Amino acid sequence: MRGNVRKRLLWVGGLMLLATLLAACGKDLPQNTFDPAGPTAQSEKDVLMLPLAIAGIIFVLVEGGILLIAIKYRHRKGRERMPQQLHGNTRLEIGWTIAPAVLLAIVVVPALSLIWSLAERPPDAMQVNVQGFQWWWGFQYLGEDMQVDYDPKGPITTANVLVIPADTTIDLSLEAAGGLIGGENPDHLVIHSFWAPRLFGKQDVVPGLAGQGNHIVFSAWEPGTYYGQCAEFCGLQHGMMKFRIVALNDTDWRAWVANQKLPANEPTDVLAAQGMDLFLGTNGQGGQCIACHAIGGTEAGSPAGPNLTRFADATHECFAGCDFETFNPDGTPNAEALAAWLRDPNAVKMGAKMPNYNLSEEEIDALVAYLYTLS
Ligand code: CUA
Repeated sequence: MRGNVRKRLLWVGGLMLLATLLAACGKDLPQNTFDPAGPTAQSEKDVLMLPLAIAGIIFVLVEGGILLIAIKYRHRKGRERMPQQLHGNTRLEIGWTIAPAVLLAIVVVPALSLIWSLAERPPDAMQVNVQGFQWWWGFQYLGEDMQVDYDPKGPITTANVLVIPADTTIDLSLEAAGGLIGGENPDHLVIHSFWAPRLFGKQDVVPGLAGQGNHIVFSAWEPGTYYGQCAEFCGLQHGMMKFRIVALNDTDWRAWVANQKLPANEPTDVLAAQGMDLFLGTNGQGGQCIACHAIGGTEAGSPAGPNLTRFADATHECFAGCDFETFNPDGTPNAEALAAWLRDPNAVKMGAKMPNYNLSEEEIDALVAYLYTLS
């Protein structure tokens, strides 16, 4: 009986190990540390390879030796003699104390120098504020040339997707934010960690440091979309606190910035106009959305939730912590996902801070139509 249980445990353990190993063989790995797409991730990978190689060689030698000796000197029938008993070997012990110390000394040199160089903040880098909320990311572009053209003036602000020019050094200031209705909510101020494996390693996002927080300096070599996620347990939806970094070529970047500076589009069709009225509460109905959301050029100006000014911009690929795609693969609005989210946020993302306002299907249709005019 005992033997059976043990056998079964061995099988389960073996299968789990195999599944983990096989998962590493996937072809499409958008968060692969070993496939750097910029100089920060490249230098971090380079520093990782040396200890990995040394540890790999030691692993093979030690485990190989254990296996070899366990097989060669295993107990056999008729071999009853007791092996010679040893107690300590000074030379060996000095050896395996000094060898790891030497190896550590070798490994620490490139690691320390990288820590110093990654901490440098080039003064001409593009400055972006990263805000970690429960459970989504907000981005504020701090440069003087990145202010919006409408009132109230302020930084271009996006959510979920950080858009950057390719091949340009970006300096991110990381800060945990707590915003909910009525200002900062201390219960929501928790530590997050900002991580886009192909561009840079993890960095903690800590509350209450007012500009004194952690930084990430990085760039992306090529235009493209890079995946990232929160890497510090921060509550129920930590696993779905994702983001994307979209790097644009020079022309697309200029066009993107120019568009971001404009106030939001005014709806031209009836349904979308109804949605806007509902959003803002213009006709005495609705108006709950503006407690948390901002839409540039309208009365909606709350920084507590994601800024929706350019919700339907092509770069805004995903919403609600990138839990949902904004567009279908063919580029058409993913109205179903947005409708499901508005119908009952908690049903599709448990614990989500957006309340269920028990909207009617007509109201949902109008809001979806409005939000998809915000390109
Ligand atoms: Cu934010 Cu985990």
